[in-house]
Amino acid sequence: MVTGTAAGRPPSPAPGDPVLVVDDLVVEHRNRTSGEIFTAVDRVSLRIGAGQSLAVVGESGSGKTTLAMAATGLGPRTGGRIELLGRDLDALGRSELRALRPEVQVVFQDPHGSLDPRQSVRSGFAELRKLQPERTTWITDEALLERVRLSPALLDRYPHQLSGGQAQRVCIARALLMRPRLIVADEPTSGLDVSVQADVLRLLQEIRETTGAALLMISHDLAVVRSVCEAVIVMFRGQVVEAGACEQVFRAPTADYTRELLDAMPGSRWRSRR
Ligand SMILES: Nc1ncnc2c1ncn2[C@@H]1O[C@H](COP(=O)(O)OP(=O)(O)OP(=O)(O)O)[C@@H](O)[C@H]1O
Ligand SMILES: [Mg+2]
Repeated sequence: MVTGTAAGRPPSPAPGDPVLVVDDLVVEHRNRTSGEIFTAVDRVSLRIGAGQSLAVVGESGSGKTTLAMAATGLGPRTGGRIELLGRDLDALGRSELRALRPEVQVVFQDPHGSLDPRQSVRSGFAELRKLQPERTTWITDEALLERVRLSPALLDRYPHQLSGGQAQRVCIARALLMRPRLIVADEPTSGLDVSVQADVLRLLQEIRETTGAALLMISHDLAVVRSVCEAVIVMFRGQVVEAGACEQVFRAPTADYTRELLDAMPGSRWRSRR
């Protein structure tokens, strides 16, 4: 059962209810030497509801990670408005922000880089449980590993004793332990062997379906996006050049840049044929 509400948690949103609403988000970086301002994210708006999945695609450096981090309050923001679970982040005090933080969990590209090399899987879970005692009682370590299709025998392994796919599943398990309402996955499969990529994506999808969490997925791989997400925004140099349902955007892209992305894909003929 994952729907129980820990003390102080915002009420569970119904399917489709907004989890994250971002309006006109701007992230600027100032070059320390020249003083020049670089706009990494330029007036981006997005919306994602409970149980929904939204992909952010675009070439390297287009601002995907910066957007995801700023949109979830985990990274700096110069302007714009963010509502997470119906709460305006700018209107919250420190302790309220801290209480909201576990509602958003991020899975990064490099699983080994996200895990503490000195911590076994079990002690990593224990640390999270200590940080969030109420939120994390809903599942045992063994059951948690089973949820991500790993053997409980891996509990006493250290990160270097895990394959890339196993380590990424451990990262997903750590996110899942917190029962987040929003999972941000930043290129979650691009560091993995091709043979395990599909399994990890299926797992993320299954978690979204069974827990009702929203999924914000960053990827440069349009085939991945199409298989996992319902909606997509396409970024180019910090701006959204196209947004909509994946099927629609991929079948009939309106922006030249989206067409270029699709054409650059290996086997790009899939674009218009199903
Ligand atoms: N702290 C920073 N200071 C200055 N510029 C930054 C900073 N962080 C990011 N940038 C710049 O902002 C732009 C967007 O970076 P970001 O990491 O969001 O791109 P991305 O789309 O996630 O790329 P990738 O696909 O390679 O991960 C890049 O040009 C990057 O160099
Ligand atoms: Mg990135």
